[in-house]
Amino acid sequence: MNLELKDIKINLTKNPKQKPEDDKLGFGAIFSDHMFIMDWNEEKGWYNPRIEEYAPIAMAPSLAALHYGQSIFEGMKAYIANGKPVLFRPRDNFERLNNSAERLALPKVDVDFALTALSELIKVDKEWIPTSEGTSLYIRPFMFGCDEYLGVKASSNVKFIIILSPSGAYFKGGLQPNKIFVEDEYVRAVRGGTGYAKAAGNYAGSLIGQNKAAKLGYAQTLWLDGVEQKYVEEVGAMNIFFKIDGKYITPELNGSILPGITRDSIIKLLKHNGEIVEERKLSINELYEAADNGKLEEVFGTGTAAVISPVGELFDGKKKIVINDFITGEAATKIYNQLTGIQLGKVEDPFGWLYEIK
Ligand code: PLP
Ligand code: COI
Repeated sequence: MNLELKDIKINLTKNPKQKPEDDKLGFGAIFSDHMFIMDWNEEKGWYNPRIEEYAPIAMAPSLAALHYGQSIFEGMKAYIANGKPVLFRPRDNFERLNNSAERLALPKVDVDFALTALSELIKVDKEWIPTSEGTSLYIRPFMFGCDEYLGVKASSNVKFIIILSPSGAYFKGGLQPNKIFVEDEYVRAVRGGTGYAKAAGNYAGSLIGQNKAAKLGYAQTLWLDGVEQKYVEEVGAMNIFFKIDGKYITPELNGSILPGITRDSIIKLLKHNGEIVEERKLSINELYEAADNGKLEEVFGTGTAAVISPVGELFDGKKKIVINDFITGEAATKIYNQLTGIQLGKVEDPFGWLYEIK
């Protein structure tokens, strides 16, 4: 049975929470009053869609997702643009969720219904969309296997939930450059694995590298390819772009990199601006050479949470390179203004990416 708007039961909280001040938000630590939930099983498909109070959910200690990591998620944002709540390329997120679902043997959602459900949830919690510069309502859709069973198998019972978190910058300094550690011991993903999916386990496996980087004073990890540990892949929570000798280079999608929606948007915007963009393999040695020859102009990460995040230093434990004197570069600033301008309805949206919640 195809679910529709009229199937969503709304049960509003009796205890609305105090909304936080925009300057106290941080990232992903505060949650709005409501969440969307629906269940799936093999016989019924998706059923019981509902919006209810954001609250803990009961789960069995034998829950499949806890034991075998059958869990995927998405990250998107709502903004207020010209007084109205908007989303940025939301269909792309739900389509990527479905690609992740396929890889993790989870059921797909109907993209139209998922967008309807999200829109209803945002309407209920519209007042939770912060409006100060650099803030937004971070949206976290996720799905996990719920069988109470310790045999290794794809769950026959699944939950899909959307929660909302009013958030500020992912990195404390916002557009200030960050220091990134180049990881050449551990790998995040391998071809044929789950790297292209937004699988919870990808992040679990990356934490050791993140801890290592943090101990050395680095904000995140730059992951290299899982076979030769020679080619640049992506950062822990964002894709990465290099401006070398006037051209923009970003690692090609090879199955082990997350196909970022911001990445795709930046490629399209740069080309629209007349810039040359190459999606290709980039070895860490080519990068070091470009730095040594003075050709590495800028480096920045791209992601929903991270937006545009300049990189001021790369260090692999031996070689350290400082980029653009650790100053936020012109290229990063321009593309940040263009992207956030579109998201906030302030500049032309040449690709029709903004989705207004009506
Ligand atoms: N790479 C990883 C590992 C991520 O977690 C993210 C964040 O979502 C990205 C890249 C950027 O993807 P997007 O631009 O779709 O947010
Ligand atoms: C996002 O940018 O939406 C992410 O998922 C990154 C991170 C918070 C895991």
